[in-house]
Amino acid sequence: MEHILQQLTSLGAEAQRALQGAANQAALEQVRVRYLGRKGALAAILRELADLDPAERPAIGKVANEVKQRLEAALAAQREAIEAVAQQAAVVAERVDVTLPGRPVPMGRLHPSTRILRRICQIWSDMGFQVYRSRDVETEEMNFELLNIPAHHPARDMWDTFYTTTEGMLLRTHTSPGQIRAMRQYCPEPIRVILPGMCYRYEQITARSEIQFHQVEGLAVGRHVTMTDLKGTLVDFAHRMFGADRKVRFRASHFPFTEPSAEMDVECIICEGQGCVVCKQSGWLEILGCGMVHPEVLRNGGYDPAVFSGFAFGMGPERITMLKHGIEDIRYFWANDLRFLEQF
Ligand code: PHE
Repeated sequence: MEHILQQLTSLGAEAQRALQGAANQAALEQVRVRYLGRKGALAAILRELADLDPAERPAIGKVANEVKQRLEAALAAQREAIEAVAQQAAVVAERVDVTLPGRPVPMGRLHPSTRILRRICQIWSDMGFQVYRSRDVETEEMNFELLNIPAHHPARDMWDTFYTTTEGMLLRTHTSPGQIRAMRQYCPEPIRVILPGMCYRYEQITARSEIQFHQVEGLAVGRHVTMTDLKGTLVDFAHRMFGADRKVRFRASHFPFTEPSAEMDVECIICEGQGCVVCKQSGWLEILGCGMVHPEVLRNGGYDPAVFSGFAFGMGPERITMLKHGIEDIRYFWANDLRFLEQF
């Protein structure tokens, strides 16, 4: 009997140490099975009770029960301790530092064409011009005939055209048909408008020409609008757009809907007039076409050319952006390549 009691005591002590040494739930479970399981050490000792003198059994049974209860309590305590440590570790690992600055959210930006359009519209509106919206799908009459470009006129070669399946309807090849619409709407009032919008040309797409691009048309009509007004206004625009010291020049040109006609150049923005690849060593960049509204066009708009006169101009914002940033391929504008777009 002394022998069994000693066994129980030493087993109790050993099991206690083993329980306390278990570092995680799996190790703890192993210890539990080894000492407290159905085939464990304690059970083995209890089985020996059967061979004992019945008079001795209660005393030993009592001790055995005490050992068992102590071990079960130790097991529960260790289980809780392991859990607490794991929970603490989780709290530390998942801690949120509320003082950290937020992660930047990737933001979109305005397309370079939109930006230059807005800049151009801003300058013209500062100068008293209103934005007039005209349609993209036009009649052949508005796009050509009323602008003094009859069918088979050689000048039509300048505007290769997308025709629609509806006879006489096309995609505007320039914003100039909006001149007729603005005049017919405002006649006989004086006019000062700009017409920004997309234009379409049935052309081979190359680095220098796209099938769609923006134009900003300008139109001023009144009783005393002169060539001097045209020049002064456009020079003022160029100075606001490219800087007050920028040199500007006008060259004679030809458009069927203006007479006289001109093109305006600005001193090259890349080389400042020294000569470079962008300006082809000339020192000048062509940025717009302009002229005094042709009497026939004024008449088509409802104005009497004996009383009224006007000037008009048309510029290509993409072209201006290309010149400004030295972009050598117009196809970048509609290719939707973020590597290009994100530079603006
Ligand atoms: N519409 C002309 C073009 O597409 C530009 C222009 C507009 C010229 C107004 C003169 C006056 O080339």
